Amino acid sequence: MPGLASFAPCLRFSSSAWSRRASRKGGILSSPGVTMASLSLSINGVAQESAMPASQNSDPPRVQVAKRLEQFKTTIFTEISILASKHNAINLGQGFPNFDGPEFVKNAAIEAIRDGGKNQYARGFGVPQLNAAIAESFNKESGIVVDPETHVTVTSGCTEAIAATVLGLVNPGDEIIVFEPFYDSYQATVSMSGAILKTVTMRAPEFAVPEEELRAAFSSKTRAILVNTPHNPTGKVFPRHELELIASLCKEHNTLAFCDEVYNKLVFKGEHVSLASLDGMYERTVTMNSLGKTFSLTGWKIGWAVAPPHLTRGIRLAHSYLTFATATPLQWASVEALRAPDSFYAELIKSYSAKKDILVEGLNSVGFEVYEPEGTYFVMVDHTPFGFENDVAFCKYLIEEVGIAAIPPSVFYTNPEDGKNLVRFAFCKDEETLKTAVERLRTKLKKAVSLSS
Ligand SMILES: Cc1ncc(COP(=O)(O)O)c(C=O)c1O
Repeated sequence: MPGLASFAPCLRFSSSAWSRRASRKGGILSSPGVTMASLSLSINGVAQESAMPASQNSDPPRVQVAKRLEQFKTTIFTEISILASKHNAINLGQGFPNFDGPEFVKNAAIEAIRDGGKNQYARGFGVPQLNAAIAESFNKESGIVVDPETHVTVTSGCTEAIAATVLGLVNPGDEIIVFEPFYDSYQATVSMSGAILKTVTMRAPEFAVPEEELRAAFSSKTRAILVNTPHNPTGKVFPRHELELIASLCKEHNTLAFCDEVYNKLVFKGEHVSLASLDGMYERTVTMNSLGKTFSLTGWKIGWAVAPPHLTRGIRLAHSYLTFATATPLQWASVEALRAPDSFYAELIKSYSAKKDILVEGLNSVGFEVYEPEGTYFVMVDHTPFGFENDVAFCKYLIEEVGIAAIPPSVFYTNPEDGKNLVRFAFCKDEETLKTAVERLRTKLKKAVSLSS
């Protein structure tokens, strides 16, 4: 995802940047004739500057955020993004490739735009051919046969699938269980729905599901559990026995399961199992995915939710009022993408395995404790050997002294202490960039640390 955050589209206001500026001139930056209040904000973790006109002599506009999003308004991502560009750091924080998607898919989009007749609003829940292609690929992956017309909803990325699912199926006051560390849109989406987030922490080195804690998290108020496999940021692929435990608890407590599988084609070790494919689960599961990660087209934002009709109804209702429909020509091109031959996926894994090996070996060689990922394009490490007080301090050091940007994972936990020893690197970059990054770590990080000790 753009910026260091690798995450869902969202506006993030940096209160620290704001207060720094505000201290310069009471928050007002003057230019001839106009009074401007400058606001630092981040779109997908990318720092942006916007100038908001304010009338002469008035107080600076107060940053206003609805209560349901108040807790998300300050973020370390903005600060890190600014630092990274200031120091010209190699960006291994970004969760999106620095290379483009396949030509055959891009050409299909160009043709769809040129063709005519494919540029107006699409059918709300998807271009029929795309719904059919999604149903086909879901069948291939999970063994489940679904009716594309009543079980598949095309959304604007998986992010919107998550939002439409939560907003369409969960009531204020309901509880949603989420494993942490978590992809950051989950917490904000749960907050927007008025539901209550119940977290269960997976801890290094295995990031295993703690069975007793999970059992204890379920209650009569539990509406759903949100599972992300393969998992961002840990790179864990949930093993079958953990998914079976989750399934049995969902059935025992009659709860729903929301499954985010955007990295399902990026598995290096073990097998990806769809929770929906386990006995008795399809009827209570929403499986969400998107084109972005698999086809290196994160900017297209084509996603989907597959669920039985009794759940699809709520998802489609929310989707109708969130976005109604998503980009028509890109939906047509996505049909081509989903019908890619098996060789495409084999090549994808081969190429990502090579990238993973470069980064994992490099990180090992400089002295991190590396938790080798089984899936996704992220790798988590423990930075303790370098003696920093926490992940934020270490990431700042990494940018300023080594020239590498990474993500401080404490932001993926409700209690930041749980992530303070960790750092997340992304390897969705061309091999040259990864090799240069490793070289910087070898020369600069090692040298800097040995000088300070
Ligand atoms: C776990 C997870 N889910 C969902 C998304 C967002 O997917 P999309 O870009 O399709 O909205 C991301 C992107 O980083 C992700 O890591």
